[in-house]
Amino acid sequence: MLDDYSEVAENIRLKYRYLDLRRPSVQKSLMLRHRVSRTVRRYLDDQGFLDIETPVLTKSTPEGARDYLVPSRVNSGQFYALPQSPQLFKQLLMVAGFDRYAQIVKCFRDEDLRADRQPEFTQIDCEMSFVDREDVMTIMEGMIARVFSDGIGVEISQPLPRITYAEALDKYGVDNPDLRFGLELVELTSIVKGCGFKVFASVADKGGMVKALNVKGAATFSRKELDDLTSFASIYGAKGLAWVKMTADGWQSPIAKFFTPQELGEIEQALGAEEGDLLLFVADTAKIANESLGRLRQHLGQKLGLAKKNDFSFVWVTDFPLLEWDDDEQRHIAVHHPFTAPLDEDVALLETDPGKVRAKAYDLVLNGSEIGGGSIRIHDQAIQQKMFALLGIDDEEAREKFGFLLDALSYGAPPHGGIAFGLDRLTMILAGTDSIRDVIAFPKTQKATCLLSEAPGEVGEKQLQELGIRLRKPAK
Ligand code: AMO
Ligand code: AMP
Repeated sequence: MLDDYSEVAENIRLKYRYLDLRRPSVQKSLMLRHRVSRTVRRYLDDQGFLDIETPVLTKSTPEGARDYLVPSRVNSGQFYALPQSPQLFKQLLMVAGFDRYAQIVKCFRDEDLRADRQPEFTQIDCEMSFVDREDVMTIMEGMIARVFSDGIGVEISQPLPRITYAEALDKYGVDNPDLRFGLELVELTSIVKGCGFKVFASVADKGGMVKALNVKGAATFSRKELDDLTSFASIYGAKGLAWVKMTADGWQSPIAKFFTPQELGEIEQALGAEEGDLLLFVADTAKIANESLGRLRQHLGQKLGLAKKNDFSFVWVTDFPLLEWDDDEQRHIAVHHPFTAPLDEDVALLETDPGKVRAKAYDLVLNGSEIGGGSIRIHDQAIQQKMFALLGIDDEEAREKFGFLLDALSYGAPPHGGIAFGLDRLTMILAGTDSIRDVIAFPKTQKATCLLSEAPGEVGEKQLQELGIRLRKPAK
């Protein structure tokens, strides 16, 4: 009910956006956005980056979301795709010998919208030649530190912390952890193997994972609060959420009876459990155990006020897997994009165990939000071909999709790499708001419409005819 109401209220606000724009809070956010772009442009200019514009009417780019298409009148029956990022063009610029490129640029992705996603959004997009990961991260940390100090007067100490993807998953269950608070996940699989609680024992036997969180001082949670946490975990696939309240008389829990005193002791020790604590457990595949507890951790961070608005906790997440297995399509897909280079020490695994190959990729995460991501690219044709083969992209498809980049790479490309930051997301966090719309002058709704201009709209029959398009379903 409340949600319906707030959606209606939000839609009214967006419809009268031009009036809303006069509100001091909106003006403040837009001024802040202006300052962020100004600082970024100045910093990148000082560092020798050349601002080069790339086309908006183009072909599909490799980010993997759904494209926005634009029909061509002159070439009837053909379509441009709006860029999901300037990825291919910036790589071409490196091949052409521009050592450093940067652009503040609109990108378009037709994907499900969330509080931090818009169908058209702005990237701070960069690419550099003759660099390794350290160079990219160091230069970009300098930019982010300048943005924070100019934008909101907060000094960020460098270098920013780093963790590997594997460590992020192990400790926080997700690849975008909010490090403003601890509340780390603890794996208990080996302890509960063979225990009397069938759910845990059988998951452990079948190669699954049992993990838990110790929520300090939360033994006071009510039955309703525990049920809410269980429903929350179930959104991410958890089949249940076992809980233990640590009381003066020991475990208060529906599952206490299934464990020997020794097992109770080992679990308590692994979790550092003390009187007054609440322990929460999920037993499932590693993917579900990590994701459900990881999201629950973030949820509890908010609920318990552990995540403070004016703390800024950065972390570079590195060594992402290069590929992930897609069950529906029965093939590997690129975690970042098909031009991301594997770690040198993992190249041999491309032949033997591709799922284990780690990538020269990095994301910058701020307070649990991915504000930027990039990688060192493949500049060796043989590895690029191997990568396409693993992705199930044959020569013809590779040519059709990325021919111009492949040709350029074949003439000899310098080692290169880059990154893109989400300007809207970054500004949103600086402005201390929970909605990306607050930092965009004319944002789109949840349904990707603009209530102000009423886009998207129908077009007349004449225009459709010129484009050679007949609608399958007449517009309502
Ligand atoms: P990626 O797809 O990770 O990388 O995008 C980079 C950053 O853009 C922001 N972002 C978004 N912001 C708002 N709404 C969206 N729908 C949205 N989608 C992405 C995020 C994200 O970290 N070409 C590569 C970069 C590279 O490899 O250099 C790319 O686009 O903050
Ligand atoms: P049950 O034996 O189904 O009554 O479950 C006992 C407790 O274990 C309940 O609190 C369930 O929420 C919890 N539970 C059931 N399945 C799982 C699971 N896969 N992981 C964690 N807890 C579970």
